[in-house]
Amino acid sequence: MKLELDNLSKHFGELKVLDRVSLTLEDVHALVLIGPSGGGKTTLLRLIAGLEKPDGGGLIINDHPIEFFSEESLREYRKRIGMVFQAYNLFPHLTALQNITLPLVKVHGYNESKALEEALILLERFHLADQAHKKPAMLSGGQKQRIAICRAVAIRPEFLLLDEPTSALDPEYTSEVLDLIGELRDEGMRLILVTHEMGFARQASDYILFVGDGGLIAQGTPIDLFEKQRDERVNRFFNKVLKYN
Ligand SMILES: Nc1ncnc2c1ncn2[C@@H]1O[C@H](COP(=O)(O)OP(=O)(O)OP(=O)(O)O)[C@@H](O)[C@H]1O
Ligand SMILES: [Mg+2]
Repeated sequence: MKLELDNLSKHFGELKVLDRVSLTLEDVHALVLIGPSGGGKTTLLRLIAGLEKPDGGGLIINDHPIEFFSEESLREYRKRIGMVFQAYNLFPHLTALQNITLPLVKVHGYNESKALEEALILLERFHLADQAHKKPAMLSGGQKQRIAICRAVAIRPEFLLLDEPTSALDPEYTSEVLDLIGELRDEGMRLILVTHEMGFARQASDYILFVGDGGLIAQGTPIDLFEKQRDERVNRFFNKVLKYN
């Protein structure tokens, strides 16, 4: 996917979370956002998702500017992307299967049987078929998050946005969720991922943005970021997060 930020700004009161940030990425497959807590990763992801409006500047994806001030085009835009958040956001009263089919039917106009067929194919493919008829309370954290990812990709999104999809999980479930994300990437799904899993960021991304201090403190390929960069703020962050890795 092609991603352009054109003097993009987002403030909360006095706080300039993003201050005239510009960037052009021509053909990125897996973009990873890293950086300190409160640095603006979620804000940037929510802007890209059309869930937040900028205070200035623009965002252009695959040569189409996001029309932040037309609710109708925002709604249409959001239908074309998949989103996964930290805390699964599954409907608790529905089964895993129904969680996947509901948006297909209600938002994307599938008929029930087509939705069911699509959902079952996905559940099968990701080894979740045995969980199809369980409600979220009966599933492990890793299973819930994998169902949430199935739900996001069931609509065949143009790209997938994930905000710390493993940070609410017990460590034993982290790798099964990262494996699934890695598989999707290998199949050609374009994704933008916020994560604190540095090993995964390094291995799975083709480009990394280090977000903080109102903008992009550093950016580059995983090799640029992990091996070549010399920014003091980035090094301090790596020293902290990699301390026990
Ligand atoms: N709706 C909001 N209203 C006011 N301030 C906000 C709002 N959303 C975010 N902020 C502030 O903007 C800054 C950036 O927040 P953001 O959630 O984007 O950071 P983050 O990099 O995702 O952090 P974390 O790693 O902790 O998730 C923070 O200081 C946060 O408190
Ligand atoms: Mg965040």
